[in-house]
Amino acid sequence: MMTNFEDYINNFFNSFESNSVVEAMKYSMSNGKRIRPQVIFAIAKGFGINEEECYPCALALEMIQTYSLIHDDLPCMDNDDLRRGKPSCHKAFGEGIALLAGDCLLTHCFETIADSTYDNYTKSKMISCLSKYAGMKGMVYGQLLDVENKLAKTKENLFLIEDNKTGGLFKIACLFAMYLGKVEMYSEFELLGSKIGEIFQLQDDLMDVTRSEEEMGKSLSDEDNDKFTALNIYSIDELKKIIEDKFKELKEYTRKLNLDSKYLIELIEKMAKR
Ligand code: IPE
Ligand code: IPE
Ligand code: MG
Ligand code: MG
Ligand code: MG
Repeated sequence: MMTNFEDYINNFFNSFESNSVVEAMKYSMSNGKRIRPQVIFAIAKGFGINEEECYPCALALEMIQTYSLIHDDLPCMDNDDLRRGKPSCHKAFGEGIALLAGDCLLTHCFETIADSTYDNYTKSKMISCLSKYAGMKGMVYGQLLDVENKLAKTKENLFLIEDNKTGGLFKIACLFAMYLGKVEMYSEFELLGSKIGEIFQLQDDLMDVTRSEEEMGKSLSDEDNDKFTALNIYSIDELKKIIEDKFKELKEYTRKLNLDSKYLIELIEKMAKR
């Protein structure tokens, strides 16, 4: 058994023979905050499940997250040069290799779950929700709305974009942990992911204007790209207050879940401080 998640990640990628796509995947996988894996770990711990058991599905989700960031940074999308404290994948390896590294992460993420020791029911449920919320019912759909940028700037449309592009992967994290916990509370855990994702993206929108690129380790380009973000609806102070209120409401909500919510609340409090 691996001792920590970073070793587990490295071990997976070291099993490939080196080439430029493999090196680009390793490069882009490094330095992530691993928030989505931490959500899985925190909920799973509340079910009495140890962290190591979460590694195969947490790796799959972090691979999807990394692929979404590689593609998000491409010149045809947000055109950003800095990611995870380093030049973005296409800046370091070129656009063709970056595109393939994203494709390859997306392709192999299913392998980590399929080859895990989870039972077949858990595997099939995980693969189903991973496909769904990373695709047209989640991340890709949200990215489509973000890139097209033709929706009216209303609160409802802001939620629609953010709940899909960011909520999608947090829904996957919560549902993965639910499947590991062997409980059947789909709508409650889907809603948990939606709530975490919404706050996370509201914070991200806020930090795009209040922090520096050095602090964030990524390009901050929303304004230059004329993106539809929370700042089109709220002032900085209003947004700070909304985020604070939503964090309180989120902590309350965790009581509705059938688990020891101590670890999840600790994580929520950590996220609130960022
Ligand atoms: C970036 O996610 C994309 C958003 C949804 C804002 P993170 O802020 O979790 O980025 P990494 O994975 O730590 O690099
Ligand atoms: C991206 O949102 C969410 C993804 C699905 C990748 P952003 O475009 O705001 O993410 P950052 O700010 O580049 O990390
Ligand atoms: Mg984007
Ligand atoms: Mg971006
Ligand atoms: Mg952003």
